[in-house]
Amino acid sequence: MKVTGIEEITFASREVAHCRRFFLDWGLRLVQETPLELLFESLNGCRVRVAHSDTPGLPPGLEPDPTLREVVWGVDGAEALAQARERLHGQPGWFDGGARIGCTDPNGLAVRLQVTRKRALKLSCARTNTWGERPRVNQPGPAYERAEPIEVGHVVFFVKDLQATSAFYEDTLGFVVSDRYPGRGHFMRCAPEGGHHDMFLLQPPEPRAGLNHVAFTVRDVHEVFGGGMHMARQGWSTELGPGRHPISSAIFWYFDSPAGALVEYYTDEDELTADWQPRDFSPGPTVFAEWAIKGGIDGHTRRQKDAPAPGAQFLTARSAP
Ligand SMILES: [Fe+2]
Repeated sequence: MKVTGIEEITFASREVAHCRRFFLDWGLRLVQETPLELLFESLNGCRVRVAHSDTPGLPPGLEPDPTLREVVWGVDGAEALAQARERLHGQPGWFDGGARIGCTDPNGLAVRLQVTRKRALKLSCARTNTWGERPRVNQPGPAYERAEPIEVGHVVFFVKDLQATSAFYEDTLGFVVSDRYPGRGHFMRCAPEGGHHDMFLLQPPEPRAGLNHVAFTVRDVHEVFGGGMHMARQGWSTELGPGRHPISSAIFWYFDSPAGALVEYYTDEDELTADWQPRDFSPGPTVFAEWAIKGGIDGHTRRQKDAPAPGAQFLTARSAP
């Protein structure tokens, strides 16, 4: 059985209209809409649902809304789903919806599995010329007016019991620990081969269950910058970014989300195999970010403090909404 990644997530919020505007600016496509529920898709068909808190049938939240209520993971075929059914049957909150099965994880989150429905994509991404390799020839690098996320790449939760929650994902779903804050946090990937983490579990000093952030994969660093600047121009507030994680090596940008906690654009995380040996780190700001800009950047950010205003504009500057 192989878990392939995140297929769908469900947020619950009382501010559905606010969330609608936020995720459209974020770059998701709205594919279905009712007064109580929005359904968005990313480029590869990964789904983001935003349900009004009063929607009947929603799984309970880890914390008061707005927050994430459910994560659906993909598996690589019908045989894998049958294996998962055997493994999960009898777990707390056991759910059998036929094509989608699941249970409740030890942290209280509704976890579901289905055969993956995401589409394979071929996208043209920025190629980087380095001293050793020069793949981009007679071609300018890309610049993005806004982001179009490819998929939900990882989810991050505060947990009450790191060992129990981590063991559930390792023993039942085949997740692998990539790196650790011993006793405090596990970066986990859903299969031995893949990106650095699909999930990060963090046990705060006073353990509690909750959402920390949901991260959306974009094509390259330029899309992180272009997407983030678009969000800033639309008036959404940066929590931290752009910046770079020493653990996973990814470039990131975090925004405050009306659907709960934070959302992140990220790209260029480490790719791992079964040969990777987990490393241990002590949590702290310099381990979280090699560098980061507090408050973000936008098209009006000046590199040259003496540049004349307001006439001088960067090539990439856009007018404010
Ligand atoms: Fe992240």
